[in-house]
Amino acid sequence: MDGPFSENDISRVVEADRAHVWHHLSQHKPYETTDPRIIVEGKGMRVWDQKGKEHLDAVSGAVWTVNVGYGRESIANAIRDQLIKLNYFAGAAGSVPGAIFADRLIDKMPGMSRVYYCNSGSEANEKAFKMVRQIAHAKYGGNKWKILYRDRDYHGTTIGCLSAGGQDERNAQYGPFAPGFVRVPHCLEYRRHEQDGAPVEHYGEWAADQIEKVILQEGPDTVGALCLEPVTAGGGVITPPQGYWERVQEICRKYDILLHIDEVVCGVGRTGTWFGYQNYGVQPDMVTMAKGVASGYAAIACLVTTEAVFDRFKDAPEDKLNYFRDISTFGGCTAGPAAAIENMRIIEDENLLDNTLKMGARMMDNLSALMDKHKAIGDVRGKGLFLGAELVADRDTKEPVAEKLAQAVTADCMAQGVIIGVTNRSIPGKNNTLCFSPALIAKPDDIDQITDALDGALTRVFG
Ligand SMILES: Cc1ncc(COP(=O)(O)O)c(C=O)c1O
Repeated sequence: MDGPFSENDISRVVEADRAHVWHHLSQHKPYETTDPRIIVEGKGMRVWDQKGKEHLDAVSGAVWTVNVGYGRESIANAIRDQLIKLNYFAGAAGSVPGAIFADRLIDKMPGMSRVYYCNSGSEANEKAFKMVRQIAHAKYGGNKWKILYRDRDYHGTTIGCLSAGGQDERNAQYGPFAPGFVRVPHCLEYRRHEQDGAPVEHYGEWAADQIEKVILQEGPDTVGALCLEPVTAGGGVITPPQGYWERVQEICRKYDILLHIDEVVCGVGRTGTWFGYQNYGVQPDMVTMAKGVASGYAAIACLVTTEAVFDRFKDAPEDKLNYFRDISTFGGCTAGPAAAIENMRIIEDENLLDNTLKMGARMMDNLSALMDKHKAIGDVRGKGLFLGAELVADRDTKEPVAEKLAQAVTADCMAQGVIIGVTNRSIPGKNNTLCFSPALIAKPDDIDQITDALDGALTRVFG
């Protein structure tokens, strides 16, 4: 490329991107003949690409992140002011925004007590796994080192997190994985017919009991933690069946197993409560969160624990290994908590939890109406502004639609200027769930525009 160019020279930007940028989750061959998409600007619920085309973003930055919408000057200003005062100091020392945000966060999480800062959901989950392992060594003589994870759940991109990954297509070709991670069955009621012995009545309790079976097979004294998404995201937007979480909590208490809830997607408002687990009355021991914590204005993730978990890392100060010997260089960036404080203020002052419940109900009604009209929709599910529609070739057998048809639906919506998602390289043969997660600021017209676009797309793709 000849010489420097400015951000206004958009064709040079596209060429530089094509020549040098490696996009995530992307096969790049098509970019040899078509332009990669560059998102140039965002405001509220909308983004504009390099051609100036406007898109309504129904997936909050494609991965459930921009919860308070684009173009928030007050967050940008909070970050700017903080960076000028102090941009960074490693986490062995505290920071002013770090202390303030921790205080406000804990206020929203009764029963929780300590906040450990880092940068991504994967990193937060890794740290939770490390805590479980350290507790196993320090308190259980090396036992209780296994970590249970669930079929269809996702906890991040590192080898450690993929070892706890319940999405076989996402994991494919990245093994071998770390030992000590054990899978438990999913709780997707719509597909209970694929699970041996699953009952029609009390499916939720049954699905939780399958976890107990695994614990008993492995030996309860070998199992340290159970890591679950409150509502599974990329594995198909799986809302837990009735009775599930209550039983999960009982099982964890019965066998002295730490409950680690991965709130990377649900955390900070997505389901209409501060945290997804709060919909189900459970009390976790560890909670991880990332995406919506600062709506993508700065990179921040948190691992939040109870005081009881924290105590296990300070109760034997004479032992030189008795503290959490973990480092997160960028966990000391102050932009994250500065942005998170303002993000939380916006959610409170603009009543966005309430809006999420109202708009989520509207969207669920709209999707249910579309289900009446289009037999390709086999199931709709979700919580708050976190919804999914599973596409099937046959409603009786529940055979998933061919992936290319699900992708044709998202492409048609994109052509209409509405960005929706679809589960992608996640579950073999079952990447057939459309995903919707508009920003929590969505208005009725936005919701209707999304479902109208879907209606048109389904008509064109399936007739
Ligand atoms: C439930 C869940 N946990 C963890 C992660 C990993 O987060 P990150 O991409 O910030 O590492 C994701 C990312 O999509 C996720 O959906």
